[in-house]
Amino acid sequence: MHIHAYEKLWLAASVLLILFLLGSVTYGAVGPGVAMVSDSEPAIDAGALDEDDRFSEPRVEQVGENEYAAYVVARQFGFQPDPIVVPANSTVTFYVTSADVIHGFEVAGTNANTMVVPGEVSEITVETDGPAEYGIVCNEYCGAAHHAMEGKLEVVS
Ligand code: CUA
Repeated sequence: MHIHAYEKLWLAASVLLILFLLGSVTYGAVGPGVAMVSDSEPAIDAGALDEDDRFSEPRVEQVGENEYAAYVVARQFGFQPDPIVVPANSTVTFYVTSADVIHGFEVAGTNANTMVVPGEVSEITVETDGPAEYGIVCNEYCGAAHHAMEGKLEVVS
Protein backbone atom coordinates (compact mmCIF):
# COMPACT_ATOMS: atom_id res chain seq x y z
CA MET A 1 0.00 0.00 0.00
CA HIS A 2 2.75 2.40 0.95
CA ILE A 3 4.68 1.98 -2.33
CA HIS A 4 1.51 2.11 -4.38
CA ALA A 5 0.67 5.55 -2.98
CA TYR A 6 4.08 6.91 -3.91
CA GLU A 7 3.75 5.57 -7.44
CA LYS A 8 0.48 7.40 -7.87
CA LEU A 9 2.06 10.59 -6.62
CA TRP A 10 4.97 10.27 -9.05
CA LEU A 11 2.61 9.53 -11.91
CA ALA A 12 0.56 12.60 -11.11
CA ALA A 13 3.71 14.70 -10.80
CA SER A 14 5.08 13.58 -14.16
CA VAL A 15 1.76 14.21 -15.88
CA LEU A 16 1.75 17.73 -14.44
CA LEU A 17 5.35 18.23 -15.56
CA ILE A 18 4.52 17.14 -19.11
CA LEU A 19 1.51 19.45 -19.24
CA PHE A 20 3.65 22.29 -17.92
CA LEU A 21 6.32 21.67 -20.54
CA LEU A 22 3.78 21.48 -23.35
CA GLY A 23 2.25 24.72 -22.10
CA SER A 24 5.56 26.56 -22.04
CA VAL A 25 6.56 25.31 -25.48
CA THR A 26 3.27 26.51 -26.95
CA TYR A 27 3.56 29.84 -25.20
CA GLY A 28 7.17 30.25 -26.33
CA ALA A 29 6.38 29.46 -29.93
CA VAL A 30 3.32 31.67 -30.23
CA GLY A 31 4.15 34.55 -27.91
CA PRO A 32 6.97 36.41 -29.70
CA GLY A 33 5.53 35.65 -33.16
CA VAL A 34 2.33 37.41 -32.30
CA ALA A 35 4.13 40.30 -30.63
CA MET A 36 5.98 41.09 -33.89
CA VAL A 37 2.94 42.81 -35.33
CA SER A 38 0.25 44.95 -33.83
CA ASP A 39 -2.24 42.67 -32.16
CA SER A 40 -4.79 45.46 -31.84
CA GLU A 41 -5.36 45.31 -35.60
CA PRO A 42 -7.92 42.82 -36.83
CA ALA A 43 -6.80 40.21 -39.33
CA ILE A 44 -7.26 41.11 -42.95
CA ASP A 45 -7.99 39.10 -46.10
CA ALA A 46 -4.84 39.39 -48.23
CA GLY A 47 -6.79 38.30 -51.31
CA ALA A 48 -9.40 41.02 -50.95
CA LEU A 49 -7.39 44.17 -50.24
CA ASP A 50 -9.23 45.96 -53.04
CA GLU A 51 -12.36 45.70 -50.90
CA ASP A 52 -10.70 47.04 -47.76
CA ASP A 53 -11.33 50.66 -46.73
CA ARG A 54 -7.72 51.25 -45.80
CA PHE A 55 -5.87 49.34 -48.47
CA SER A 56 -8.03 49.47 -51.62
CA GLU A 57 -6.33 52.80 -52.31
CA PRO A 58 -2.96 52.85 -50.56
CA ARG A 59 -2.41 56.43 -49.43
CA VAL A 60 -1.34 58.90 -46.78
CA GLU A 61 -4.12 60.53 -44.76
CA GLN A 62 -4.07 63.32 -42.21
CA VAL A 63 -5.57 61.99 -38.97
CA GLY A 64 -4.68 64.75 -36.49
CA GLU A 65 -3.22 68.23 -36.28
CA ASN A 66 0.24 66.95 -37.08
CA GLU A 67 -0.45 63.26 -37.43
CA TYR A 68 -0.67 61.13 -40.51
CA ALA A 69 -1.56 57.55 -41.33
CA ALA A 70 0.14 55.84 -44.26
CA TYR A 71 -1.68 52.80 -45.64
CA VAL A 72 0.88 50.78 -47.54
CA VAL A 73 0.53 47.58 -49.56
CA ALA A 74 3.56 45.41 -50.22
CA ARG A 75 3.37 42.95 -53.09
CA GLN A 76 5.73 41.16 -55.46
CA PHE A 77 7.71 43.34 -56.19
CA GLY A 78 7.03 46.82 -54.92
CA PHE A 79 5.24 49.06 -52.46
CA GLN A 80 2.17 51.21 -52.92
CA PRO A 81 1.93 54.15 -52.85
CA ASP A 82 5.27 54.86 -54.49
CA PRO A 83 6.57 57.27 -53.47
CA ILE A 84 5.05 57.57 -50.01
CA VAL A 85 4.91 61.32 -49.36
CA VAL A 86 4.65 62.60 -45.79
CA PRO A 87 5.11 66.04 -44.22
CA ALA A 88 8.25 67.04 -42.31
CA ASN A 89 8.06 67.44 -38.51
CA SER A 90 5.05 65.19 -38.09
CA THR A 91 4.07 61.87 -36.60
CA VAL A 92 3.42 59.20 -39.17
CA THR A 93 2.00 55.76 -38.46
CA PHE A 94 2.54 53.23 -41.20
CA TYR A 95 0.00 50.45 -41.56
CA VAL A 96 1.55 47.89 -43.84
CA THR A 97 0.04 44.71 -45.20
CA SER A 98 0.90 42.25 -47.95
CA ALA A 99 -1.18 41.24 -50.95
CA ASP A 100 0.72 37.99 -51.45
CA VAL A 101 3.71 36.63 -49.54
CA ILE A 102 5.83 37.73 -46.58
CA HIS A 103 7.79 40.92 -47.26
CA GLY A 104 9.83 43.36 -45.24
CA PHE A 105 9.32 47.10 -44.86
CA GLU A 106 12.43 48.96 -43.83
CA VAL A 107 13.03 52.66 -44.14
CA ALA A 108 16.70 52.50 -45.06
CA GLY A 109 19.03 54.27 -42.67
CA THR A 110 16.46 54.45 -39.86
CA ASN A 111 15.27 52.00 -37.23
CA ALA A 112 11.82 51.81 -38.84
CA ASN A 113 11.67 48.17 -39.84
CA THR A 114 8.95 45.55 -39.75
CA MET A 115 8.01 42.24 -41.26
CA VAL A 116 4.90 42.35 -43.48
CA VAL A 117 2.75 39.25 -43.26
CA PRO A 118 -0.25 38.52 -45.49
CA GLY A 119 -3.39 38.50 -43.37
CA GLU A 120 -1.94 40.89 -40.81
CA VAL A 121 -1.37 44.62 -40.52
CA SER A 122 2.02 45.74 -39.24
CA GLU A 123 2.12 49.09 -37.54
CA ILE A 124 5.07 51.41 -36.99
CA THR A 125 5.06 55.03 -35.92
CA VAL A 126 7.85 57.44 -36.77
CA GLU A 127 8.60 61.09 -36.11
CA THR A 128 9.80 62.88 -39.21
CA ASP A 129 12.14 65.85 -39.08
CA GLY A 130 13.42 67.94 -41.98
CA PRO A 131 12.70 67.24 -45.64
CA ALA A 132 14.56 64.16 -46.88
CA GLU A 133 14.31 61.16 -49.15
CA TYR A 134 14.63 57.60 -47.97
CA GLY A 135 14.71 54.31 -49.74
CA ILE A 136 12.31 51.59 -48.62
CA VAL A 137 13.63 48.08 -48.89
CA CYS A 138 12.20 44.61 -48.54
CA ASN A 139 14.39 42.48 -46.32
CA GLU A 140 12.47 39.21 -46.43
CA TYR A 141 13.13 36.91 -49.36
CA CYS A 142 9.91 37.04 -51.39
CA GLY A 143 10.72 35.65 -54.82
CA ALA A 144 12.82 36.11 -57.94
CA ALA A 145 12.88 39.93 -57.86
CA HIS A 146 13.20 40.29 -54.09
CA HIS A 147 16.52 42.12 -54.47
CA ALA A 148 14.87 44.71 -56.71
CA MET A 149 11.85 45.33 -54.47
CA GLU A 150 12.13 48.87 -53.23
CA GLY A 151 10.13 52.00 -52.72
CA LYS A 152 10.66 55.59 -51.75
CA LEU A 153 9.66 57.71 -48.77
CA GLU A 154 9.65 61.45 -49.37
CA VAL A 155 9.51 63.75 -46.37
CA VAL A 156 8.47 67.15 -47.69
CA SER A 157 8.10 70.57 -46.08
CU1 CUA B 1 9.45 41.60 -50.96
CU2 CUA B 1 11.60 40.68 -50.64
